[in-house]
Amino acid sequence: MARLVTEWVNVTGDISIIARESGEVWFHTPRGTKETVDPFATPMAGVGSAGSTVGLLDGAINLGFAGIEKRLARPDPTLVGYIVALVGAYHTSVDTPRNLRRAASRFKELGRPEVAAYLEQRAREETGHDRLALKDLRALGVPGERLVANFIPEGIKPLCKRFDDLCVQDYPIGCIGYSYCLERIAALKQETDIEKVQALCPDGVDATRFLRSHSSLGSEATHVEETIEFVASLPANDRIRVVRETYESALIMAEGYNHELLKSEAEILEELQQVVGEALPYHLSSYPSHGEKRGARPAA
Ligand SMILES: [Fe+2]
Ligand SMILES: [Fe+2]
Repeated sequence: MARLVTEWVNVTGDISIIARESGEVWFHTPRGTKETVDPFATPMAGVGSAGSTVGLLDGAINLGFAGIEKRLARPDPTLVGYIVALVGAYHTSVDTPRNLRRAASRFKELGRPEVAAYLEQRAREETGHDRLALKDLRALGVPGERLVANFIPEGIKPLCKRFDDLCVQDYPIGCIGYSYCLERIAALKQETDIEKVQALCPDGVDATRFLRSHSSLGSEATHVEETIEFVASLPANDRIRVVRETYESALIMAEGYNHELLKSEAEILEELQQVVGEALPYHLSSYPSHGEKRGARPAA
């Protein structure tokens, strides 16, 4: 009988993730002594399997968010907060096809056509997703093009930079870990999450195109499954790099989340109005301080 596959990756100095094909995952602190040899102290070199690879990838995301879990801001959802999320969604989508194609052409040069083909397919699937976010912004009465041209949420900037940097590396395999992190987290969103956003929107307004397609209801769930299968098929060294980047991206994403969510609704609205140079539709403001308190209206 074939033995079940076990995979492991050291993601930080003192933590390794170990995952079995059966679905078990645990975190391990490497400690070899003279008497005991730690079997996970050397990098894994065997084949992967979907069951163990998903354990490593999701373990990396959990570990990345673990440090911030207790500090994670959890404000009540608001429409202005959702607008910032849509602007962030635009920025994390707009360069994705171009970046993935750049990484694909590098893998062609490196004689890795199977990685290139996978990245090109992903580039095709991600094309046009930035347009979904723009349509949602427009549906809410927000000048989407002007807003995204002049505003990148602070918490999103490091994430976009990370992806740009990964895709131009000499060996850009890490871009798969980054994409997995974002898509896996998006695919956690359920129908009830979409309904909550829908409830914030004015009657008759559909501003959940991007959210729907980047949730368990849309294509994201399939993208995640395909990526797991693909990563599992890669050589051990590649799997190690992908898992480590999934962890790094999760760390950046976790920090970014908090950055936006800690702002008040009034602060965000003020910031958005400054950017577009006009008042945004009244339905965006649900906080009570209309009028004077908002003070300095931006110059048109
Ligand atoms: Fe997408
Ligand atoms: Fe996707």
